[in-house]
Amino acid sequence: MGRVIAVLNEKGGVGKTTTVLTLAAGLDLMSRRKNQNWRILVVDADQQMNTTQTLTGRCDFGRERSLACLYADNLYDADQLRAVVVPSRWSSAIQVIPADRSLQETPLRQATLPRGDYRLADVIGEIAPEYDFVLFDTNPKWDALSVAVFLASSLAVVPVDLRQFAIQGLSYMITTLVQKKREYRHPGFSILGILVTRFSDQLVGMRTDLQTLRAHPTLGNLLFSEPVPESIVVDYAQREGISLFEFAPRSKVAAAYARFVGEVAGREGQP
Ligand SMILES: Nc1ncnc2c1ncn2[C@@H]1O[C@H](COP(=O)(O)OP(=O)(O)O)[C@@H](O)[C@H]1O
Ligand SMILES: [Mg+2]
Repeated sequence: MGRVIAVLNEKGGVGKTTTVLTLAAGLDLMSRRKNQNWRILVVDADQQMNTTQTLTGRCDFGRERSLACLYADNLYDADQLRAVVVPSRWSSAIQVIPADRSLQETPLRQATLPRGDYRLADVIGEIAPEYDFVLFDTNPKWDALSVAVFLASSLAVVPVDLRQFAIQGLSYMITTLVQKKREYRHPGFSILGILVTRFSDQLVGMRTDLQTLRAHPTLGNLLFSEPVPESIVVDYAQREGISLFEFAPRSKVAAAYARFVGEVAGREGQP
């Protein structure tokens, strides 16, 4: 059964998309190194379609050929989603369920459709055994679609930018996730870890924030060991549409992400 990991944070610009893309590329590289033939499915649940655009070079899939197809009708099944899977241009091992702009209407549709909140979980539950990893990119607000992704996932990675996310806010978000787990009776869900992104050593306040976070009684244990540094290389790679490991394999930011990927592959979630 593949591990289903959602990259979640209700703020925008914290590195969710970068983390999903780099995680997919990193797991693929690791799999090749170990002769594992891992299969990786990236599901783009953000109507901004950044992940779709980068991995497929397109964002014109429309409602019928994207994740949104699951919310078109009273009836739904796993084959509907299997039919919209497309190859990525990065690797034959990475496949994509594209996003579409119409996903922004999903929360409303979800409320009126049978098993609205649960249909993504139902279908991903059937598809996940066909993959080693299923990775969700998500939109920057907590809405009904986020609930659907949460219910479909067993693990969460939370990227944070200390520039915009006070530790209190992060603590609130982790508490909320733990509450939702009870509220929605989703005991199989746990938090895999918190990844500090866009970290800059030059900013004294940020260094202090990282120390505080490391010492925090609950959040400290959840931190991945190394922050991802702020680097212009990330923007360049994104502009070229290639992975950080391909664009700048010797950069500090690629090294930090490589370590993160290794930890994701080896780590169990925390309740
Ligand atoms: N480590 C980093 N260093 C520099 N820029 C980064 C880094 N991580 C992300 N970015 C840039 O920040 C912006 C937001 O990142 P993105 O991954 O799209 O965040 P989100 O998906 O959370 O909105 C993008 O322009 C991206 O290239
Ligand atoms: Mg994004």
